[in-house]
Amino acid sequence: MTWLITGGAGYIGAHVARTMAGAGERVVALDDLSAGVPSRLPDGIPLVRGSSLDGELLKRVFAEHAVTGVVHLAARKQVGESVAQPTRYYQENLGGLATLLEAVAGAGVERFLFSSSAAVYGNPDVDLITEDTPCAPMSPYGETKLAGEWLVRAAGRAHGISTVCLRYFNVAGAAAPELADTGVFNVVPMVFDRLTRDEAPRIFGDDYPTPDGTCVRDYIHVADLAEAHLAAAGRLASPGARGDLTVNIGRGEGVSVRELVTLVGEVTGDARAALVEPRRPGDAPRAVASAARAAEELGWTARRGMREMVESAWQGWRLHHSL
Ligand SMILES: NC(=O)c1ccc[n+]([C@@H]2O[C@H](COP(=O)([O-])OP(=O)(O)OC[C@H]3O[C@@H](n4cnc5c(N)ncnc54)[C@H](O)[C@@H]3O)[C@@H](O)[C@H]2O)c1
Repeated sequence: MTWLITGGAGYIGAHVARTMAGAGERVVALDDLSAGVPSRLPDGIPLVRGSSLDGELLKRVFAEHAVTGVVHLAARKQVGESVAQPTRYYQENLGGLATLLEAVAGAGVERFLFSSSAAVYGNPDVDLITEDTPCAPMSPYGETKLAGEWLVRAAGRAHGISTVCLRYFNVAGAAAPELADTGVFNVVPMVFDRLTRDEAPRIFGDDYPTPDGTCVRDYIHVADLAEAHLAAAGRLASPGARGDLTVNIGRGEGVSVRELVTLVGEVTGDARAALVEPRRPGDAPRAVASAARAAEELGWTARRGMREMVESAWQGWRLHHSL
């Protein structure tokens, strides 16, 4: 089999590409380099520079590399930006997906894995979010992920494509410092950013109905996430694999923002007190995955813990900021 990994030079995509290649799969990466970094990919993995919105290019890539499966990660992913630029997010995330699925169907490719997000759930009032928890995304970004899942399933049914949608929870860490996330959009890099500027980390709201009053999230190491993709690809490639599957990818363990900030203080050696600021609109008090279906259906469970996530993310941050 040859897997096309769109967004393969991105933070998660490069981890997925390396993990799948390391397990002996043939992979080819496609990335428009709007946020990707080519040096994240080792020499043996070909990188096609181009967009998932370019149908002609996709046709050529499918033919030249004899692609038999697709892992689709390429997308814009900033919630705030999606609120300001909804048409761009629908065009790029959903338009890119539709173009890609047409090329997939045209080339007779029968296996498709889609990067979805816990953002599809919105703000459910449950202890553990299962895949059957009703979806109510709170941003255009989350809407493109939910509508993307619908489109993936509909195309799967229409064209005989087996599909898996992975709903990632909060991704952190790095398998190697050079693979780290360079953006400052998630809580771990946001805390690093404050400390690097010699400022106290910020906590938005400490009056939520949670044990310490701060928001609770489910963090997943990107190396574990990459292994979940390998497991899902294995399932898609197995003889007789048919139909669609939607799976949460998390650890099933809640960690509060205050606990996270304390851990970052221990790891960085800068344990200054956090500033508590008002709540941000749209933050759910608690978002923790049920990880049961991933274990049952993919035989996958996360192996890495919080300290490993924060330590590896910090090493990557120090490399990128020459600290
Ligand atoms: N990072 C997270 O916490 C998180 C959580 C849930 C879901 N996701 C999803 O995982 C996927 C990867 O996220 P990431 O964190 O690695 O982000 P990233 O920005 O590092 O990676 C996305 C990659 O896709 C490329 N890209 C964007 N649009 C493209 C297009 N039209 N054609 C070709 N390449 C394109 C970018 O250059 C980048 O390399 C995204 O779909 C994102 O929505 C991420």
